[in-house]
Amino acid sequence: MPVYEDFLELGLRRQSCRSFSDKPVEHEKLVKCVDAGRCAPSACNSQPWSFVVVETPGVVAEAAKCGQQMNMNPFLSKARAFIIVLEEHAVLMPSIRHILDSQYFAKTDAGGAVLQICLEAETQGLGTCIIGIYDREGLCKLLDIPIEKQFAAFIAAGYPADPAVRPKSRKPLEEITRFV
Ligand SMILES: Cc1cc2nc3c(=O)[nH]c(=O)nc-3n(C[C@H](O)[C@H](O)[C@H](O)COP(=O)(O)O)c2cc1C
Repeated sequence: MPVYEDFLELGLRRQSCRSFSDKPVEHEKLVKCVDAGRCAPSACNSQPWSFVVVETPGVVAEAAKCGQQMNMNPFLSKARAFIIVLEEHAVLMPSIRHILDSQYFAKTDAGGAVLQICLEAETQGLGTCIIGIYDREGLCKLLDIPIEKQFAAFIAAGYPADPAVRPKSRKPLEEITRFV
């Protein structure tokens, strides 16, 4: 497992994994991933998230199908686990509650938790891929999640079949940053 000496290195190594090996993912590693999510910062420390970890093989297979609508994401058939990040009600400080909706920061907060999960997975030698299009209602039914619940992310996980790190395709720093 690589040792990360600086955070940028970790960020450069984390990549969307679309080819998982058959190796099962250890329960302890998944616990560590959600624990990293739990540590994420949030407005007023409101922690507006909860996690559903799918690790039982039969349930994983059913969850994979929910991410394969319209024949998308065929690689999910080989995912060995899924982590769903749900957006929960945020209790903000009374002074802020007067001026902003309770969920005003919740998506930002939950997004931070999602990334911490993915980065922790990377440090554990696991690959992840955040899945954008999925059968939310199917997942709710499968996993006993209240139907009205907002999903922040549906994350596939497993050991990468190919350890090669792809170069990052990103906008140049100069194009997206202003130092003033
Ligand atoms: C909200 C969101 C939804 C995504 N949905 C999918 C998806 O359905 N299938 C997929 O293969 N990748 C998906 N991705 C991965 C992106 O394509 C990927 O993060 C981006 O191309 C950058 O590549 P990298 O993650 O390897 O650095 C998604 C990423 C995010 C953040």
